[in-house]
Amino acid sequence: MPKKKIFITREVPELAVKMLKKYKDFNITIYKGDKKIPRKILLQKVRGCHGILSLLSEKMDAEVMDAAGPNLKVIANYAVGFDNIDLATAKARGIKVGNTPCNEVSESVAEFTFSLLMSLSRRIVESDKYTRLGKYEEWKPMLMLGRDVYNKTIGVVGLGRIGQQVCRRATKGFGMKVLYTDMRRNPQFEKEYKAKKVSLNTLLKNADYVSLHVPLLPATRHMISTKQLKIMKKTAYLINTARGPVVHEKALLKALYANQIAGAALDVFECEPAIDCDTSDRYELRKLDNVIITPHTASATIEARDAMARIAANNIIAALKGKRAPALVKIK
Ligand code: DGY
Repeated sequence: MPKKKIFITREVPELAVKMLKKYKDFNITIYKGDKKIPRKILLQKVRGCHGILSLLSEKMDAEVMDAAGPNLKVIANYAVGFDNIDLATAKARGIKVGNTPCNEVSESVAEFTFSLLMSLSRRIVESDKYTRLGKYEEWKPMLMLGRDVYNKTIGVVGLGRIGQQVCRRATKGFGMKVLYTDMRRNPQFEKEYKAKKVSLNTLLKNADYVSLHVPLLPATRHMISTKQLKIMKKTAYLINTARGPVVHEKALLKALYANQIAGAALDVFECEPAIDCDTSDRYELRKLDNVIITPHTASATIEARDAMARIAANNIIAALKGKRAPALVKIK
């Protein structure tokens, strides 16, 4: 019997490969280049594939599905987000789409979000730079003054798994108050964490920290733009560990340069991996001391990445063996 071809577009934790290799009728190929797979090679490699294990940085569109051909049964994204996948085309062709939501990723992204929040508030990155540069000459009462997070308000935009874990840390660990927005109310959560569901405008008006945890959808693209940034407090911080295009980057730059908000921490960027969409612009995120930028590493822990590998491999195994997949995307 001919083997089922599976293509992994980039090296992922070995665990996933080991799980797939247990099936003797799977023929697994991994792209091992040290840079992202060039589109042309991707289109060649997927030819005749039954399953693709893809990364969030690769567009899985009709062209890729065409190149794979009629064998393709599953695209297992190695990410919780799946905005890189053309869901409508996948559905029309009966291709299953998997993602990797799990506690490990939620905890790890929430921990990272909180690290950014604390680092902004206490100016950790700025202080480190200052000290390294040999600028610490004497103790001064006003040196690197920050703000306590205790008793402040966090506004969590999107109360999914990650948003909830951020709230848990904020209330139980740091004595913060929680406002949130979501499509649905979560009365049990509200009770346990004294959280309040409000409109986005109310959240922006009242939060000292605005943390984004929504998927990238047509409705969330640029949901934080000029108008929303104007509503925020001058002393408030914006944290984005969701997807870059949720924030209108140019509007954010303008707001930061005009001191309309206190600062921002971004793990994702609108034109990722570029940090600034418009490189000819004199406004640049990296020039600002009140901005922390990290390379989309909020889920970069061994625990989270292993869990993601396990789920992605199981999504492929399930789809090709007719079993129940751990995490299939519901395509409307
Ligand atoms: C995700 O899972 O969508 C993150 O952005 C990367 O882990």
